[in-house]
Amino acid sequence: MPAIIVFATKYGTTEKAASLIKDNLPGAVVCDLRKNPDPRLEEFDLVVIGGPIYAGKIHRAIKKFCRKNLEALHMKKMALFICCMYEGEKAEQQFRDAYPEKLRQSASLSAIFGGELSLEKLNFLERFVIKKFIGVKESASRFQPEKIREFADRLRSI
Ligand SMILES: Cc1cc2nc3c(=O)[nH]c(=O)nc-3n(C[C@H](O)[C@H](O)[C@H](O)COP(=O)(O)O)c2cc1C
Repeated sequence: MPAIIVFATKYGTTEKAASLIKDNLPGAVVCDLRKNPDPRLEEFDLVVIGGPIYAGKIHRAIKKFCRKNLEALHMKKMALFICCMYEGEKAEQQFRDAYPEKLRQSASLSAIFGGELSLEKLNFLERFVIKKFIGVKESASRFQPEKIREFADRLRSI
């Protein structure tokens, strides 16, 4: 079953998650929406979509991709994920806001993977936002490779 993992990233965490899924899903390919915003979805049975959360919102390229392909995606086997620093109900709410209800309902699998933050990579404004609103005062990783591998394992049987 050919699968495509469509992702967007700013600092690389979501790309890492997409690669990990690919490595555990034989025959899968990845598509970075910044390089190829229009992958040929008709060539794939399964579409996995993942993006990072910034200031409560999913990466713009993912939003655009979902809006543009809403009907086609609705007809496919599909899975959704986000990468973010929040956990619990806040993260769940971000997930609900990230993807249209129609997609969430037809997705076979959904997941929230932890994010990563390297403060030294951020500009002044981003650092300010992170410290004030996210409450992260130093570089941190909530990346969960084991959860991502489990997600890929479950994808094999949908
Ligand atoms: C400016 C900025 C704003 C962020 N806002 C949020 C947020 O609102 N909620 C959240 O859970 N994580 C937030 N994060 C954390 C990112 O989602 C996390 O760092 C993620 O791993 C980034 O993914 P990427 O490396 O693929 O771009 C923010 C990070 C930055 C730098």
